Amino acid sequence: MTLQISSLKEYQDTYKRSIEDPEGFWAEQANTFQWRKPFDKVLDWNFDEPNIKWFVDGKLNITENCLDRHIPERGDQVAILWEPNDPDGEVVTYTYKELLAAVNKCANGLKSLGIGKGDRVVFYMPMVPELAIGVLACARIGAIHSVVFAGFSAQALADRVDDAEAKLIICSDYNNRGLKNIKVKQVVEDAMDLGCNSIEHVLVHKNTGGEINWSDDIDKWWHDVVDHQSAECPAEEMDSEDILFILYTSGSTGKPKGVVHTIGGYMVYTCYSFLNVFQYKPGDIYWCTADIGWITGHSYIVYGPLLAGATTMMFEGVPTFPDPGRFWQICEKHKVNQFYTAPTAIRALMAKGEEWPAKYDLSSLRVLGSVGEPINEEAWNWYNEQVGHGKCPIVDTWWQTETGGILISPLPGITDTKPTYASYPLPGVQTVLMDSDGNELEGNNVEGLLCIKAPWPAILRTTYGDHERCRQVYFSTFKGMYFTGDGARRDEEGRIRVIGRVDDVINVSGHRMGTAEVENAINEHPAVVESAVVGYPHKIKGQGIYAYVITQNEDTDDILRKSILDVVVKEIGPIAKPDKIQFVNGLPKTRSGKIMRRILRKIASRDSANLGDTSTLLNPEVVEEVKEGALV
Ligand code: WT7
Repeated sequence: MTLQISSLKEYQDTYKRSIEDPEGFWAEQANTFQWRKPFDKVLDWNFDEPNIKWFVDGKLNITENCLDRHIPERGDQVAILWEPNDPDGEVVTYTYKELLAAVNKCANGLKSLGIGKGDRVVFYMPMVPELAIGVLACARIGAIHSVVFAGFSAQALADRVDDAEAKLIICSDYNNRGLKNIKVKQVVEDAMDLGCNSIEHVLVHKNTGGEINWSDDIDKWWHDVVDHQSAECPAEEMDSEDILFILYTSGSTGKPKGVVHTIGGYMVYTCYSFLNVFQYKPGDIYWCTADIGWITGHSYIVYGPLLAGATTMMFEGVPTFPDPGRFWQICEKHKVNQFYTAPTAIRALMAKGEEWPAKYDLSSLRVLGSVGEPINEEAWNWYNEQVGHGKCPIVDTWWQTETGGILISPLPGITDTKPTYASYPLPGVQTVLMDSDGNELEGNNVEGLLCIKAPWPAILRTTYGDHERCRQVYFSTFKGMYFTGDGARRDEEGRIRVIGRVDDVINVSGHRMGTAEVENAINEHPAVVESAVVGYPHKIKGQGIYAYVITQNEDTDDILRKSILDVVVKEIGPIAKPDKIQFVNGLPKTRSGKIMRRILRKIASRDSANLGDTSTLLNPEVVEEVKEGALV
């Protein structure tokens, strides 16, 4: 089995060894998996192109490692435990044997629709077991999955389908979330009207039932295609560097990019990091509350836990339905041992009062995880005291869609924890802080730009269809380094605290958003002349979205505001809706015409006392106007 570190000394020794002999270290981890053909070389890399290959020429199928490999020892153990939106609804479980059979049936169904190795399949589904099954079925036959979070709009879905030239969309009919009933299939139809020319079929999973439109040529029911299939499906032999999946994420410029992860390295790293960061032990019940539409769900609901032979829970609902005790009620009901959620959820539940966690028996909990954004001290303390009763180490895990897995985190019970600190790099991860001139900041008690010096197995390989963009965004700022886009500090004892993005990316409730992307959406409104979007501190969301908008309309009233929000929802989805829209006559610009976001950020953050020198602006007079009109 994969190495599970169990003491501080072992962490220190392992870390040291992983840096001195990364190839030896990772080969040892990789050799605990099943390979059809062993790899010839552990690592081939340069960060200039970049060109990164792990476990070179190894052949395998990741689903044999997630499923078949576990059958002899734990075939009857629950692999996926599914808790429905409705607290009185029926819990669904799949043992490893049952999951393997379900994945194989689905894989055979996909084949019957003409899907094969290398084809792209887009998922637009709520948190139902069929989403995990479908993703694994793709991996079984070598198809590439691209899961699109089901909160994105038809336009955003069409953009992603088109970029990947996908052949198939898998969706649900409807979705129940809290008290809402969401028309999932309808969004897919709208996306088909906007593009999706490469799509041959839409495979529809009947989730809630109900009337939907149907096109006989294109639409197929999941139950018609999958249910009668054989429960055996030989796994396709894949190369270690074949693509496992594409996942779209926002950057500081342009449209979202398709982050590409490949099979071998992602497999080794997600399993290794899962076992170590959560200290999962056989028999434990592990619950990550993320959605599979984000990287957290890919790596730490599906792949990491299943590779490790864990019982992983999937939750269909929301933290506040039917009441703000739902998370804690579920922890009690299923005797959850490791619980992994986002600071935004903790803050939202903290605001509802400590009586909610106090109602439930949370004594099964051993490890509490946090992910997605910096966790503030107040939320950290509340999580620690009200949920963990001071007995559960908090693992504040820092990572990104691009990193594939957790890179910086305490190891529970092994390394210490400190509020707001992600703390220490995992074995094999060489974090460095740089100043803006490209000098490495040595020693402790320093603050700079967070970079990684050498590849770890789950690093992104490219951005789909645009390798140059990958090079430019991640590997060109500092020569020979992967640049994360985050600023961080290292304390007196070497712990790392990630402060936040230093680029034009904002983090709203743990969702990553490009300010340019939101601006482009706002600019689609016919009355909008120009806009500038910045983030500002928000009590629950971490960051809120603040938009400054110049319009042609005389009446800058709430109707216009509402219609701008509608456009953003249509272009991207509700998660990108600005919290505040301030109508302005001008935006502060440099003499070369660049918007001075620094000033706009300060005004939005109600920190406009010290805006610095504005006299060199092209239009210094607008600063006063913007300041005066600022929304509180
Ligand atoms: C960005 C990546 C990692 C899965 C979910 C988000 C921020 C993430 C932390 C943390 C401080 C964090 C960073 C990073 N971030 N985790 N523990 N502390 N910041 O993945 O959407 O790719 O976003 O989220 O700014 O760059 P993502």
